[in-house]
Amino acid sequence: MRRGEHPSGAVVGGILAPHPPHLVYASNPPQNEPRSSGAGAWQELLAGYQRLRASLEARVYDVLVVHTPHWKTRTGTHFLGVPHFSGLSVDPIFPNLFRFQYELDVDVALSQSIHDHARDAGLSCQMMTNPEFRVDYGTLTSCHLVRPAGDLPVVAISSVRTAFDYCNEAGDQEMLALGRATRAAVEASGKSALCLASCSLSHRHYTTEPADPEDPAFESIHNENQAAWDRHILALMESGQSRRVFDEMPDFTDQCVAETRDGSLSWLLAAMDFPEVAGQVHGYGTVIGTGNAVVEWDLSR
Ligand SMILES: [Fe+2]
Repeated sequence: MRRGEHPSGAVVGGILAPHPPHLVYASNPPQNEPRSSGAGAWQELLAGYQRLRASLEARVYDVLVVHTPHWKTRTGTHFLGVPHFSGLSVDPIFPNLFRFQYELDVDVALSQSIHDHARDAGLSCQMMTNPEFRVDYGTLTSCHLVRPAGDLPVVAISSVRTAFDYCNEAGDQEMLALGRATRAAVEASGKSALCLASCSLSHRHYTTEPADPEDPAFESIHNENQAAWDRHILALMESGQSRRVFDEMPDFTDQCVAETRDGSLSWLLAAMDFPEVAGQVHGYGTVIGTGNAVVEWDLSR
């Protein structure tokens, strides 16, 4: 949707928006306490996010709806249900890179409506109404990298444990239902939504860190099996085969120990109703050996 046009009630786009805190660290926003060393790793991913933001400048949307792997809920899918959250987010693995002071506005009406649609579809759901709740860094990082101004409300959706308790196929089927519920709620809301899957692709990673985590000499994909899967998934996205991405997701998740097990990408594909338009790959790169891609689907075309 171009500037000046404003659809009512539509998922106007989807973004694969990975959340390495490293990318926020390297960007040195005032909200983040650690300062980048400037050594220069992750340039292709940083450029990919820049290209995405440039592409989004010409588009109009009211709200970001993000599904995050780092808000893990034991029973059912949870939704942020308080109008505003603020606090300090510290990455538990990389506290040296991410200590981020955040302010987050929530579209509670849309959040509640997605909850209600999902509940009516038979999913176990709950609204998060604790004003002291600490928002997860997946939500914060993806939203910041997509829209650093932070001037739009957000709906954040947790990742339920179905794939871990049963199997990948069961998890993906639940995300199919959740994605459809999300789409139906957005359409009923009269708002235009940009949906974000906050996850990486291949996820086998190094378990040691150099003295300077930003040393570019340290970064490469963990192994060729992981790289081959990433190339395959990106080729499917670029050729508009999003349904096939969903169909192959259980194997991809298993063989790449992928963060997609938490459901974000499966949910996104379903929320977009499996678009046949090409996903635009703005950038691909590694962070501690994991494969990360910034991909945009423009559904207004
Ligand atoms: Fe992650």
